[in-house]
Amino acid sequence: MRIDVVTIFPDYFHGPFDVSLLGRARRSGLLDLRVHDLRRWATGRHRTVDDTPYGGGPGMVMAPAPFFDATEELYGAVADRPRTVLLTPRGRPLRQPLVRELATEPGLLVLCGRYEGIDERVHEALATDEVSVGDYVLSGGEAAACVLVEAVTRLLPGVLGNAESVVEESFSGSRLEYPHYTRPAVYRGMAVPEVVRSGDHARVAAWRRARALAITRERRPDLVGGEPGGEVD
Ligand code: ADE
Repeated sequence: MRIDVVTIFPDYFHGPFDVSLLGRARRSGLLDLRVHDLRRWATGRHRTVDDTPYGGGPGMVMAPAPFFDATEELYGAVADRPRTVLLTPRGRPLRQPLVRELATEPGLLVLCGRYEGIDERVHEALATDEVSVGDYVLSGGEAAACVLVEAVTRLLPGVLGNAESVVEESFSGSRLEYPHYTRPAVYRGMAVPEVVRSGDHARVAAWRRARALAITRERRPDLVGGEPGGEVD
């Protein structure tokens, strides 16, 4: 899969995009991830990408032209463009079904905003999807882009080993994870539950299911239909 990220802080992504899962996926050729500096498409001596808001108000607004020019240079005509995700707190919440959907695309273009906001014409005419990573406000879309790219990449065929991919399966069932333990059996007076050490696979499986359900009910009742308006994964 190819993913293009457009940002005014390309350096932000050194690290997140170079190590661990994303680094491996890139090096193995499963992910073609390209980060572009929006200022490349800025004009004028100072290469500014923002301007004062029409109608007044605090802060600056990111101008439409650099985003439109970047998109055209990277992908040409509208028909040739990939799904274009604009990260914004007013977007659709990022949940696993949307991640799964995005992971089936041949490519993605990810646009990161900063300042007070982005000119509405970018939302209307460039973005195919507006996505939020949570109900809080970040200073820009870069951290959100890291979340999106990592969540999508781990679903690409060949990126995860079989053992790891089980984790995705467990979330598909709208349950939070059961508790995990490793050695030692007793650590600082805290013992691993007897059932987990019993070697009885059926009992272990039943215990894990029960714990996962109890934890989900307690922490995320919306995932098990326990709260009106709650969205089940
Ligand atoms: N930009 C600022 N806050 C954001 C959020 N919560 N999700 C996505 N993009 C953002």
